[in-house]
Amino acid sequence: MIISELTLVTDAGIDLKPPPYALNHKDTLEYHWGKHHKGYVNNLNKQIEGTELDGMSLENIILASYNKGDVLPAFNNAAQVWNHDLLWESMKPGGGGGGKPSGELLELINRDFGSFESLIHEFTLAATTQFGSGWAWLVYNDKKLVLGYHVGRQLIIVYSFCYLGFK
Ligand SMILES: [Fe+2]
Repeated sequence: MIISELTLVTDAGIDLKPPPYALNHKDTLEYHWGKHHKGYVNNLNKQIEGTELDGMSLENIILASYNKGDVLPAFNNAAQVWNHDLLWESMKPGGGGGGKPSGELLELINRDFGSFESLIHEFTLAATTQFGSGWAWLVYNDKKLVLGYHVGRQLIIVYSFCYLGFK
């Protein structure tokens, strides 16, 4: 499968974003983009067409369909579209991403975790000690950097907005 031959735009409100770089590991990356990601976008668009969710941003669809924890059917597909968007933006071709941050972020890390190395240790522990699949994340909440994690399809966006909006 060649990425440029895939249809990027669907009929309903949410578009499949093109990957931000060439997918060089075709079997794995094209599977996640050309099948998973595209499938979630298409399924979400079928679910929201003609509903009050149609026309909303992806983030607002997630928040509306999360429905304060009593999730609506569109939530899982919307969550997976958002997860895959985040996945593509979180990687860099050739393994050249990552590295020690600088400036204000490094100052905050040093203040709230003691050191960058300590953050990496705690982050790795949070990410690798979950059962099954899940997420670990670094968030800025209440003027402090903190680690968060959750198993499965839950999203940081839900918790972030909950922390900010429904506390
Ligand atoms: Fe995937």
